[in-house]
Amino acid sequence: MNAIEIKNLSYTYPDGNIALNNINLEISGNECIALIGSNGSGKTTLILNLNGIFRGKGSIKIFNKELSDKNLKEIRKDIGIVFQNPDDQLFMPTVFDDVAFAPLNMNANEKEVKERVRNALQAVGMSSYENRFSYHLSFGEKKKISIATVLSMNPKIIVFDEPTANLDAKSKKELIKIIKNLKKDGKTIIIATHDLDSVLEVVDKIAILNKTIIAYGKTREIITNEKLLEDENLDVPNIAVLFKTLTGLGYDCTDIPLSMDAFLEKFKTCW
Ligand SMILES: Nc1ncnc2c1ncn2[C@@H]1O[C@H](COP(=O)(O)OP(=O)(O)OP(=O)(O)O)[C@@H](O)[C@H]1O
Ligand SMILES: [Mg+2]
Repeated sequence: MNAIEIKNLSYTYPDGNIALNNINLEISGNECIALIGSNGSGKTTLILNLNGIFRGKGSIKIFNKELSDKNLKEIRKDIGIVFQNPDDQLFMPTVFDDVAFAPLNMNANEKEVKERVRNALQAVGMSSYENRFSYHLSFGEKKKISIATVLSMNPKIIVFDEPTANLDAKSKKELIKIIKNLKKDGKTIIIATHDLDSVLEVVDKIAILNKTIIAYGKTREIITNEKLLEDENLDVPNIAVLFKTLTGLGYDCTDIPLSMDAFLEKFKTCW
């Protein structure tokens, strides 16, 4: 079953700016999709349509349920969004209160709330932060707590808007580990990003957006289509540049993994 099915979705901002124009996209359950596109291409607008924060024209189905005014609350249990800026997500005094907010809103009892908070903080490696003040945390710490506020709802779909922005190398690796574990748990994941290099190893498919879907295909297929990426003003990922060079030197790159670490591991015997 498709986790998400978008048909003929268009969205115009109140000032007349057409941000999304006839989007059609199907995302299967348990897939991890990168949504890429240049600044202003509509990534955030599309994400905000997915759980009904914005309501465009057209149809969005989440696990076959058509998003409508009547079932917004129900849909939002299935699809959680991690916003680009953690300050848009954290608004309670303590980390516990922030992470407990969604389960409390879903009328979970005290024992269940505590358990959900514990599990969500554990999943992002922040168990010891339960009693800290959210607004005192560093950006990277706030980011992980924002993810926990979404995980505590236990949604089937998790959408990240620019998750690696402003994170250092260690935090990016931690984020990839979190996403890998979410994939293992069977979650469907969408990552809107300009930083394909950092997330490439967890991404099954890539959708290129420029108000409408310009291309949608397997990760390897999209990243090796240099012309397509350049036409959309997108960076060709480092690993794809490497593949191109190696292919030019006569190597067959079809089975080489997409993560730089895995690539180096595979070739370490050669140098
Ligand atoms: N509130 C608004 N009113 C009018 N236009 C808006 C509004 N918010 C966004 N836009 C416009 O909608 C278009 C899509 O913006 P959006 O933020 O979805 O792009 P994006 O792909 O997320 O960009 P970025 O990579 O910079 O995050 C842009 O042209 C933007 O200027
Ligand atoms: Mg954006």
